[in-house]
Amino acid sequence: MEKSEINVGLLGWGTVGTGVSRILVNQNHRIYQNTGLSLKLLRIAKRTLPAYRSGIDLAGGCLTTDANAVVDDPDIEIVVELIGGTTNSRELILRAMQNGKSIVTANKALIAKCGAELFQLAQKQGVSLNFEASAAGGIPIIKTLRESFAGNQIESIYGIVNGTCNYILTEMQKNGRDFSEALEMAQGKGYAEEDPTFDIEGTDAAQKLTILTALAHHISVPLNRVHTEGITKITQKDLQYAQELGYTIKLLAITKLKGTQIDVRVHPTLIPDHSMLANVSDAFNAVCVIGDAVGPTLFYGQGAGEMPTASAVVADIIDTARSITGNSHVLVPRAWISKPRSDISISSINDIETRYYLRLVVQDCPGVLAQIGTILGNRNISIASVIQKEPHCKNTVSLVILTHRSSEANMRLARVEIDNLEVVQEELILIRIEEFDF
Ligand SMILES: NC(=O)c1ccc[n+]([C@@H]2O[C@H](COP(=O)([O-])OP(=O)(O)OC[C@H]3O[C@@H](n4cnc5c(N)ncnc54)[C@H](OP(=O)(O)O)[C@@H]3O)[C@@H](O)[C@H]2O)c1
Repeated sequence: MEKSEINVGLLGWGTVGTGVSRILVNQNHRIYQNTGLSLKLLRIAKRTLPAYRSGIDLAGGCLTTDANAVVDDPDIEIVVELIGGTTNSRELILRAMQNGKSIVTANKALIAKCGAELFQLAQKQGVSLNFEASAAGGIPIIKTLRESFAGNQIESIYGIVNGTCNYILTEMQKNGRDFSEALEMAQGKGYAEEDPTFDIEGTDAAQKLTILTALAHHISVPLNRVHTEGITKITQKDLQYAQELGYTIKLLAITKLKGTQIDVRVHPTLIPDHSMLANVSDAFNAVCVIGDAVGPTLFYGQGAGEMPTASAVVADIIDTARSITGNSHVLVPRAWISKPRSDISISSINDIETRYYLRLVVQDCPGVLAQIGTILGNRNISIASVIQKEPHCKNTVSLVILTHRSSEANMRLARVEIDNLEVVQEELILIRIEEFDF
C-alpha cells in the first residue's frame, strides 16, 4: 500500500511557524481529504520556552529548545526552517539534508545568499528543498514560475514584493502623509520592523528578485549586482506631480530579458495609474510575469503575515510529502472521480444576499420615486443611494438606484412589481454588486 503518513519537524515557532502549526494541526483532516496525506507535526524547536499558543493542540513532548533534536530525529522526514537569518538556519538545513531530510523554508535571505550551496547539497543527497514563501509570501509565484510557465521564455517580471514600501507609498499617495509619518504608521501596524532599513532601502525586494530571476532565467544574480534604490527619497511632491501626469509611484522589482542581456533592478517607478499594478494598495503584493507564450499575467495577494505565509509553507510541505510518498492523490479531482463531498449542497440563486444596482427609465413626473421606494421598502430592500439623470428623451428620465444588501428572492419579486408600474418605460436593468475588502 502507498505510504501516506509523513512526519514533519519545525525549526522556529514565531509568526510563520505558529501559522504553519495552526494549519498542520487544525486542518489535518482537510489536508488528508484533499491530498490523501497524513501530515504529523512531530517536533517544534524554539529558542526559549514557554511556548503556549492558544488554539493549537500540540502532542505532548512536541516542543524543544534543541534544534538539533529536530534535524537529527530519525522519524522526521521533512524539516521546515522558519528561524530566519543566514547562520543557524544554514547550519541546521545543511545538517538536516546530510541526515537525508527534505527541507521547506521561507527564508529569502538564506536562499538569496546560499542558494547554490544548499541546492547542490540537496541534489547530492537526493532530497528536495522548497521555498515558496520566500518571495511574495502567500502568492504561489514560485511554483508558477517553476512549473506552470515551464514552456515559456519569461520576458519580464514586474513585482510589488515589499508590503512595507507599498503600504508607505499608498499612505503617502492616498492620504497625503509624508514619508516619516507613513513609516511610523507601518511600524504601528506591524508591517515594518523597528529598524526598517532593510525594507525601505529596497534590500528585501532585491533578495526576492534574485530568487525570481534564478527561477525565470536560470542565472544566479549576486545581491550586489541588483541595482537597488529604496523609497526614502520619495516626497509628497513627487507623488503629486506623478499623479497630475497620470502616474503612480511604486517600488518595483524588475527583471527584463533583452537578447542575451538581463536587467535586474529595484527602484521607485512611475507606472500609469490606470494599470492594475498601480492599483495594488496597502501591504498587498503583486507580481506581473510576461512570458512569450502566455503573455502578461498578474498574481496578487498577501506577501507576508502569519497565515498567508503559512499557507505557502504548507503547500511546500504537501508537495514535498507527495514526492516522498509518490502520492498522486492530489491530482485526482475528488469531485468527479473519488468521493464528492456530501456535506455541501448547491444553493439556489434565490438564497443569495447581495447589493444591487438598478437602472430604470421612468416618466418624468412627481411621485415616481415614491412608488418605486414603496415597492422596495415593502420587500425589505433598503436604498443606499439614488441618482436621477437628465431626461434622455422627451418626458422620461433615468434613475439609478444602489441598494444595501438584500435578499435575491425579495428583489426578484420587487423587480416584477416595478416592471409592472405604468410609470416605468423600459425593463429594469439589474446588476449585482460584489464588495471586496481588498
Ligand atoms: N513574518 C512574515 O510575514 C514572513 C513572510 C515571508 C517570509 N518570512 C520568513 O520566515 C522566516 C520566519 O519569520 P518569522 O516572522 O516567523 O520570524 P520570528 O517571528 O522572529 O520567529 C523566529 C522563530 O525562530 C526561533 N529561533 C530563532 N533561532 C533559533 C534557534 N537557533 N533554534 C530554534 N529556534 C530558533 C525563535 O524562537 P524564540 O521566539 O524563542 O526566540 C522564533 O520562534 C524568516 O526567514 C522570514 O524572512 C516571514
